[in-house]
Amino acid sequence: MHILFAASECTPFIKSGGLADVLGSLPQSLQKLGHECIVVLPKYADMKGAEDLEYVTHYDIYISWRKKYCGVFKCVRDNVTYYFIDNEEYYGRPGLYSYDDDYERFAFFDYAVLELISHLQLEVDILHLHDWQAAMIAPLYRERYAMHPYYDDIKIVFTIHNIAYQGKADPKIINSIFGLPDYLYENGNLRNGDCFNMMKSAILYSDIITTVSPTYAKEILTDEFGEDLQYILRIRMNDLYGILNGIDYVINDPKTDPNLIQSFDVDTIELKAENKAALQKELGLVEDPEVPLIGVVTRLTWQKGIDLIINRLDEMMKRDLQLVILGAGDYQYEQAFENVAKKYPDKLSVNLKYDFGLSCRIYGSCDMFLMPSLFEPCGLSQMMSMRYGTIPIVRETGGLKDSVQPYNEYLMTGTGFSFAHYNAHEMMDIIDYALQVYQQKDQWKHLVENAMNEKLDWEKSAKTYERLFNDLLNR
Ligand code: GLC
Repeated sequence: MHILFAASECTPFIKSGGLADVLGSLPQSLQKLGHECIVVLPKYADMKGAEDLEYVTHYDIYISWRKKYCGVFKCVRDNVTYYFIDNEEYYGRPGLYSYDDDYERFAFFDYAVLELISHLQLEVDILHLHDWQAAMIAPLYRERYAMHPYYDDIKIVFTIHNIAYQGKADPKIINSIFGLPDYLYENGNLRNGDCFNMMKSAILYSDIITTVSPTYAKEILTDEFGEDLQYILRIRMNDLYGILNGIDYVINDPKTDPNLIQSFDVDTIELKAENKAALQKELGLVEDPEVPLIGVVTRLTWQKGIDLIINRLDEMMKRDLQLVILGAGDYQYEQAFENVAKKYPDKLSVNLKYDFGLSCRIYGSCDMFLMPSLFEPCGLSQMMSMRYGTIPIVRETGGLKDSVQPYNEYLMTGTGFSFAHYNAHEMMDIIDYALQVYQQKDQWKHLVENAMNEKLDWEKSAKTYERLFNDLLNR
């Protein structure tokens, strides 16, 4: 199969969240299964690891009546070809998003992807679109491209990584930016409620829709999680699939991770203690091998259950434990953590930043990892922590429910701890239970072994995508 992925971020080049990790691994895994994979991204000013880009071509894109330059650059990694869409005006700025003209920047990207196919004479069977930034490629394809001989027969797959970000905009830009006729708003195709809605449009116009875990695929059909797209998703229910993401087991490996002081694997778990001692020292915590060390690595947003943690922070500090928090985000959360951190300098370490190296040391040193998300389409950190023998404590939602098996003390099965309701006391109860199990050394070791032996890499998921794409082409 020839698969073209269109997305707004991708490791190792540029990342703001888990979307980038998925784009960094899924195409590679499908390429290994024998498919030709191409990834198309904007050429941002802040990219890393893209020093060897090669100029390919350029062409014009029309944003309504305005003619814009579109350059194309390229590189190849692990046999996957990456094309970068160049336009200084749109992408020659720091960061990725949050500019006033984001909708125009990605409308340009969406057209650039579709034009690329004919300019480079690419063979494409599947066009795999990710989140709202690439969503409008689906209606643009159907309404403006599919009738051209070069474009017929492409199947469109749209993946929802997070339904909370839909690309809701003023209906005026349907015509003035996307160059589509207004009746597509009037007839409801591009409309949800009183807005032009890009994600809704992709859900309607794609051949199939996927999301990043089986549980989230069920949740988004409900009023509680659907964010007003539950109605359209229910209509498309037979074409909606949930496929759990994986993580890259080669890059994320405690045996080879250069960020760790001491490497280890499931046969040498005792060596992990050296990392714990080093991290306690690095963060100015009391250096004590016995005290349970809990890690949190997260964006500080409402989605991640930060309210529950802040609510129970003083209570947690009454326990014999240490807590390290790493992440940046909403001002009110940053303030709350900073204020409490002052009270407990030797048992609470608050690090309000993004720091990849430190995140690896947290995964590779802590005993437990706390992730009480309000909702979590998939979540990758809990998988990372399991890979590094750090036991996740999660809320049973989305991908957290699908990837963490709750510990059963009688059968000695399970890979972590979980609680059902979004409730701070319930979270505290399960933390207390985990602390209790931690005291029983043999049981805890068993749990750590279970977590480390769990296989949450891309192999299985890539095969599921492969099967789905094959079925789609044979429809
Ligand atoms: C989004 C979701 C996260 C998921 C990631 C990759 O960031 O919030 O749960 O793991 O996308 O699919």
